[in-house]
This record gives sequence, structure tokens and C-alpha cells, in this order.
Amino acid sequence: MEAVLRGRGLGSSMVVMGLVCILAIVVMLPEVSATRWTVGSNMGWTTNVNYTIWAQDKHFYNGDWLFFVYDRNQMNVLEVNKTNYESCNSDHPLQNWTRGAGRDVVPLNVTRPYYFISGKGFCYGGMKLAVSVENPPPPPKASPLNEKSASPSPVLALRGQYVLPAVLAIGAVWDAFVHLL
Ligand SMILES: *[C@@H]1O[C@H](CO)[C@@H](O)[C@H](O)[C@H]1NC(C)=O
Ligand SMILES: *[C@@H]1O[C@H](CO)[C@@H](O)[C@H](O)[C@H]1NC(C)=O
Ligand SMILES: *[C@@H]1O[C@H](CO)[C@@H](O)[C@H](O)[C@H]1NC(C)=O
Ligand SMILES: *[C@@H]1O[C@H](CO)[C@@H](O)[C@H](O)[C@H]1NC(C)=O
Repeated sequence: MEAVLRGRGLGSSMVVMGLVCILAIVVMLPEVSATRWTVGSNMGWTTNVNYTIWAQDKHFYNGDWLFFVYDRNQMNVLEVNKTNYESCNSDHPLQNWTRGAGRDVVPLNVTRPYYFISGKGFCYGGMKLAVSVENPPPPPKASPLNEKSASPSPVLALRGQYVLPAVLAIGAVWDAFVHLL
């Protein structure tokens, strides 16, 4: 009987520990993971979408990706400079992101404006996208260490993300340990 009770005590401690670990992972994920933006959402990269409106309520952070999904037989994805974005000139692309499958991923790995157009005349119909890539914001649940510095370094920001889950996990292990005694 006692063995059974002890067994159950151990079991529930393990369950609590597991739950806390899952919680810790869930707390960490939104801050660590980058976003892969499907350009034009469910419309994709096509005609009759205003990409200025699509982009205007979104924040693009360094480390995110753009995912262009389109008809590979018609459109393409060219990165151009501001002048050529405005004039729809596809003759001197900074980068040709077209890989041929109609599904191109572009890493936004520099904090700067990016300009994309489709060549083959589609830019004139509105297939043009400008995004301004920002530095990711500091984590919302910053540790006291982070709150004091105006612009936390990436290393400090990263540490802040792990402090709370680490404290929770250590607490859970301690709790399980105490129950075993
Ligand atoms: C963009 O590139 C063109 C050459 O293709 C150049 O004439 C123009 O000055 C450049 N614009 C900017 C803003 O760099
Ligand atoms: C872009 O690259 C693709 C695949 O390499 C190629 O087929 C296409 O002609 C290129 N387009 C331009 C405008 O350079
Ligand atoms: C950004 O990504 C491109 C394409 O993968 C790569 O060529 C470039 O070196 C990267 N730049 C930085 C600053 O990481
Ligand atoms: C997209 O919408 C913006 C803001 O309403 C407007 O200024 C722009 O002319 C539109 N672009 C196209 C290609 O219709």
C-alpha cells in the first residue's frame, strides 16, 4: 500500500515536472522563433494584391524570412534597389531569388529596407513589395538585469529568455526531489 502511494507520488511529480518543462518550452518559443511570412498571405505572390497594404500592419524582424508562392511559369522574384522598385525596372536586379519552383524563400538577415518586384511586366500591375527590416524587440519578460540597460545586447536579450524557464525547471526538479524524501 505504502509502495503504491509512494509510486503515485513519484508519478505525479514526474507529470508536474513534464508539464513545467512543456510550459517552459512554450514560454520560450514565441521569443526565440523567427517568422516565415508568406507574401500576400493566402493569395500569394500574384496580380490584384496590393502588397503595400499587405505589409503595412506587419513588423519584419532581422532573422525572419519571406516566402514567395507563385505561378512559376509567369512570375519571378527579383530584389532591386529603391529607384528600380519605384520605376519597375527589372534590368539590374540586386539579386535574382527565382529558383524555378515558384516557391522562393528570402532570408531577411540585414536590418535595412528590401525591395522586391516581379519582372515580365507584372510589377506595373502592382507586383512590388517593400519591407523595412527592424531589429527584434527585447523580450517582454525581461529580467531586472535587462530592464536597466536601454538597448540590451543580443546576448543579454537571449539570456533573459532563458532565465524564467530555467528557474521554473529548477523549481520543478527541487519539488520532485522533496516529494521523494
Ligand atoms: C539603383 O540602381 C540604378 C542602376 O540600375 C542606379 O542608377 C540608381 O542610382 C540606384 N538607386 C539607388 C537608390 O541606389
Ligand atoms: C533568375 O534565375 C532563374 C533561375 O536561375 C533564371 O531562370 C532566370 O532567367 C533569372 N532571371 C533574371 C531576370 O535574371
Ligand atoms: C544573408 O543571407 C544571404 C543569403 O542566404 C547570404 O548570402 C548573406 O551572406 C547573409 N548575410 C548576413 C549578414 O548574414
Ligand atoms: C496600394 O495601396 C496604397 C495605399 O492605399 C496606395 O497608395 C497604392 O497606390 C496602392 N498600390 C497599387 C499598386 O494599387
